[in-house]
Amino acid sequence: MAPDSSVFRRQRPGWEFPRAVRAEGVHIWDERGRRLIDAAGGALVVNVGHGVAEIAEAMAAQAARLAYVHGSELTSEPVEALARALAARVPLDDARLFLVSGGSEATETAIKLARQIAVARGEPGRVKVIFRRPSYHGASLGALAVSGRPTMRADFEPMLAAMPSIPAPYPYRCRLPGCGEVCSLACCDALATTIEAEGPATVAAFIAEPVIGASAGAVVPPADYYRRIRETCDRFGVLFIADEVMTGLGRTGRWFGMDHWAGVRPDIVTTGKGLTSGYLPGGAVLARGDLVDRVQDAGGFHHGFTYSHHPVVAAVGLAVLRYLERHDLVARAGVTGVHLLARLRGLVDLPAVGDVRGIGLMAAVEVVRDRAAREPYPRAARMAQRIQAEALRRGVIVYASGGQVEGAGDLVMLGPPLGITTGQIDEVVDVLGDAIAAATREA
Ligand SMILES: Cc1ncc(COP(=O)(O)O)c(C=O)c1O
Repeated sequence: MAPDSSVFRRQRPGWEFPRAVRAEGVHIWDERGRRLIDAAGGALVVNVGHGVAEIAEAMAAQAARLAYVHGSELTSEPVEALARALAARVPLDDARLFLVSGGSEATETAIKLARQIAVARGEPGRVKVIFRRPSYHGASLGALAVSGRPTMRADFEPMLAAMPSIPAPYPYRCRLPGCGEVCSLACCDALATTIEAEGPATVAAFIAEPVIGASAGAVVPPADYYRRIRETCDRFGVLFIADEVMTGLGRTGRWFGMDHWAGVRPDIVTTGKGLTSGYLPGGAVLARGDLVDRVQDAGGFHHGFTYSHHPVVAAVGLAVLRYLERHDLVARAGVTGVHLLARLRGLVDLPAVGDVRGIGLMAAVEVVRDRAAREPYPRAARMAQRIQAEALRRGVIVYASGGQVEGAGDLVMLGPPLGITTGQIDEVVDVLGDAIAAATREA
C-alpha cells in the first residue's frame, strides 16, 4: 500500500498524525483549526511555552548576525554568555559548558568526558559507567548502553557496550530485600556493592536522572538518596553524572532537579529539552571546572560535533533562560505543580490508576490492569498509547511511555509549559480521567 507520507517515523500502528500548523502558550492548532492543549510540552520539552516571539526574534537576529563558526576554531558572544548564565544556576563548582544539539549527544559527551578525566588522572583502568534500571539517557548506542530501557535496547543489545547497572529507586515496584512499606534505601546501597564487585579501579562514573523520566514515570527518589550516592562516589573516586535533560531548566520547580537535594553537587550535569524549549535542537554538558582543567592540561578533550557550541543554539538558550527568569516560571512551576499533583491524585478513584507521582510540572500516572496486584496490562494492549489517543480525541496531548516492567507497563506523563494556569490543569486532568476511563473500559 502506498504511504500517505514520505516521512520515516517511529512506527505507530493505527495512529493518524494530525498536522500541526501553529502554537502559542500551551496550545497547538492543527490544520483543521482544532485547538489542542499541549499538556506534555511534546516530550517535556517546551518549558517556556509555544510561540514566544522574543525567542524567535533572538534566534533570527543571531542567525542574521553570525549563524555558525566551528567550535574548535572560534568562539562567540552568545556561547560565552550562556556559559556564564548557566554556571550561575547549575549546582556545580566553577561550571564549564560544552554545548551540543540534544540530550543523547549530551550523554555521549558526559560519558567521554568522565573517561578522559580518569585517563588524565592517571587511572586508565576506569572504563565503566554504572547506570540504573529503569532509566533513559538517550538513543545513540553509547547512551543506550547506559540506559535501563528494555524495549529500546532489545534489538541492539548485542551491539551495546556491557556496563554494570543497579536498581533504580522505584518505590511503587520495589522488591528489594529489606525494603517494605518503609524504604531502606537498599537500591542506593547497591551502588557501593556493585562498585566493589566490579573493582573500584574499573569504574569511571555513575549516571542518574535526579527524577526518573519516561522510563519509570516521574519517580522522585527518597530524601537521603543522593547524599548517600555522593558519599559512595567520593569513597571510590567515581564521578557522579546527573542527567538533567528532562529535569533541568525549571521543570521540577527548581532550576535543576538536583536542587531538591540540598548540599549534593554532582561532578557533571547534562541538560537538553527545556534548555532551548524546542525552538531549536539543543543540549549541554556542564562540568566542574577543576575536572575540565585537568583534561585540558593533559592534552584537551578528544571529542566534538560539527554543531558543538553553535551560536544560534546558544542565543536561544540564553533567551529561554532570561524568559524563565523574567516571568518567574521556575517558582511558578513549583506552585502549579502542587495543584497538578493534587488533581491527578483525584484520579485514583479510577480502578486502572495504580500510582500518581511527580514533582513540579513533571508528573506521571502509572496505569495497571489489576491494582491490588500492581499487574500491568500486557504489552500488546498498548494501553498508554490508547489513553493518549483518547486524550487527543478530547483535545489534550499527553505523553505515552512505559515498558518499565520487563517490557510491559504503562505510563502517561504530563509536563506542560511552565506557564500553564490552574484552570488549564483542571481541564487537562478532567480529560485525562475521561481518557483513562474510556481506554480501560474497552480493554
Ligand atoms: C533523561 C533523559 N536523558 C537523555 C535523553 C535523550 O535526549 P534526546 O532525545 O534529546 O537525545 C532524554 C530524552 O527523552 C531524557 O529524558
